[in-house]
Amino acid sequence: MLNLRRPFRKLLNLKIFNLGIRAKLMFIILGITMLLTLALMLYVHTILRAALAEQLDHKTISIARNVAARSMEPILTNNIFALHQVAYNTLENNDDVYYVFFEDGAGHILVHTFKDYFPPDLLGIKRSLTGKEYDMKKFMTEEGVLRDIAIPVDYENEPQKIARIGLIDYSLQSALVTATRQLLLIALAVFLITSAIVYILTTIIAIKPINYLLYSVQAVAKGDLSQQVKVSSHDEISKLAAAFNVMTQRLAETRKVRDQLMKKLIYSQEEERRRISRELHDETGQSLMTMMIALRFLEESKDLSELKHRTEEFRSILKQSIEQVRLMAWNLTPTLLADLGLKNALESFIKKINKNRDWEISLQVKGLDNKRLAPEIEISAYRIVQEAMTNIAKHAQASKVSICLSCSEQTLEITIKDNGKGFNTDKLKTEQGFAAGLGLISMQERVALLKGTFDIKSKPARGTTIFVVLPLEIAEEKILSADG
Ligand SMILES: Nc1ncnc2c1ncn2[C@@H]1O[C@H](COP(=O)(O)OP(=O)(O)O)[C@@H](O)[C@H]1O
Ligand SMILES: [Mg+2]
Repeated sequence: MLNLRRPFRKLLNLKIFNLGIRAKLMFIILGITMLLTLALMLYVHTILRAALAEQLDHKTISIARNVAARSMEPILTNNIFALHQVAYNTLENNDDVYYVFFEDGAGHILVHTFKDYFPPDLLGIKRSLTGKEYDMKKFMTEEGVLRDIAIPVDYENEPQKIARIGLIDYSLQSALVTATRQLLLIALAVFLITSAIVYILTTIIAIKPINYLLYSVQAVAKGDLSQQVKVSSHDEISKLAAAFNVMTQRLAETRKVRDQLMKKLIYSQEEERRRISRELHDETGQSLMTMMIALRFLEESKDLSELKHRTEEFRSILKQSIEQVRLMAWNLTPTLLADLGLKNALESFIKKINKNRDWEISLQVKGLDNKRLAPEIEISAYRIVQEAMTNIAKHAQASKVSICLSCSEQTLEITIKDNGKGFNTDKLKTEQGFAAGLGLISMQERVALLKGTFDIKSKPARGTTIFVVLPLEIAEEKILSADG
């Protein structure tokens, strides 16, 4: 089968497509200009040639009339010498005249201006002059177009005597050559001027701004996000520059947030370790120590009732320690989440934080009874609720909190609402907002990682609502690709 793509690919591989923008533009514009100029030249040339040819026709006729008038008398009086003079005069006074001769109508030449040889072809040309003032014919010769005109000299006698004059278009040719030379000069000037204008304009309009943009993009590629391009007009390049500026600003902001989050993460990790170490040392270690002492007392007990009493004590210390270790383990990571799922883990979490507090918490979970979600969705949802509850406990002074999770085929929606004092969400976006804490931001980052949406609505004295939607499909895709 014919491969139609090949010529196309060949065209694309042409060197011109590898040139820079300016070279391409110049190639196109100059190409079009040259084509137009050439077409114009051809047109002017044609018109000029036609006009000059017509002029030459008139000149030929007027010379013929002149010759006929002047040779009338010598013919009638049979004055061959005077006829000669008329012929040579005409030849000398007109550069285009190539020959003049007279024939007697019966095939004999009376006078001619050829040097030594009369071309017989000329006599062979049939002339019909009946009812006409003259008869002009044109022939192509090596020297140019020959206009041969025949005109009767005396009208009374039969056969008529005829004057024949031949003109070659030398003047027309030289006029055309001069005109063509001038047209070519004009075309060259047009070419040079257009080249200069196109070069300068493309440099100002495109090349400089593009190079500037390119420089900035390269700097960004190397990691310098402080680049901002000057936007000076409203053309496409400027729009690109403006978009580039917005992009680098956003990138810089994102990077700043990520950096802060990273610092915070490292810091809180360290903090967590310190806390665990302290708890292990202060509480678990202490409990083990107490048990050690209790064990010694146990050994030293003298009778069965004392032994029973001390075993009782020992068991209560042991129970306390087990409780502590469980709490510690649970704080580290909610094992219930992995074992029993989001609903049970959240219920247990709420039960725990509800102790010693005089707020009213309602937890509502829809569509999740025995359903398990992808681990990253479950842990994210859990942490989001945890962080929101920490904030409410810390900042809101709320008397009512409602947590609502609703799971459908595609999404998990989480709404956490309090009736506390609220705050101004605009301030979150300022740098102070970021510095104040990273709880809300890390929530947003979690949601963004899962391609979900995060929304917070709060006004001072009006309470706060956090609304999160997590898509379930994305997570499944990730799991599938991780398996494969
Ligand atoms: N439920 C809420 N009620 C009132 N203010 C809140 C609530 N949640 C967050 N805020 C405000 O938003 C700020 C940022 O919260 P966050 O990012 O979690 O940082 P942090 O809790 O460490 O201050 C808090 O300092 C607080 O002023
Ligand atoms: Mg917080």
